Amino acid sequence: MNESEIINLPKIEDDRGNLSFLEGASHIPFEIKRVYWIYDVPGGETRGGHAFRESCEFIIALSGSFDVVLYDGQKETRHHLARGYYGLYVPKLVWRSMENFSTNSLALICSSTSYHDDDYLRDFNEFKGLTHE
Ligand code: TYD
Repeated sequence: MNESEIINLPKIEDDRGNLSFLEGASHIPFEIKRVYWIYDVPGGETRGGHAFRESCEFIIALSGSFDVVLYDGQKETRHHLARGYYGLYVPKLVWRSMENFSTNSLALICSSTSYHDDDYLRDFNEFKGLTHE
């Protein structure tokens, strides 16, 4: 899958509180190798600002809200994530930033790879070059 998209997750509604879940390769188009989370973000901060050569990701706002801004080399899209029962699939080779974090927001990110610094594209011009090959 080369296109980013919002993917809805199961939501088991219950008077005692709702429950959602995620099974890699069943709800999202990759097997999860790693999960990390971003929290305690000070007002006005931006995270990300890079792309990945190989990793794809699935981003969920488990608490609060934030915006994910994507640029695939052609067009920019902004996705406001605000609930725990859906997330944003981000393919490889998409420049992504996360901004407008609300107070106490919690971003959960599922990745298709383990952490490798050399998978990061942090130079925007190098990224642009790869998307126009
Ligand atoms: P980074 O992915 O650059 O954060 P962001 O994109 O939100 O700005 O990661 C910040 C630091 O954390 C960087 O030094 C690498 C480290 N890190 C790990 O060690 N393991 C991980 O799984 C991740 C995502 C980051």
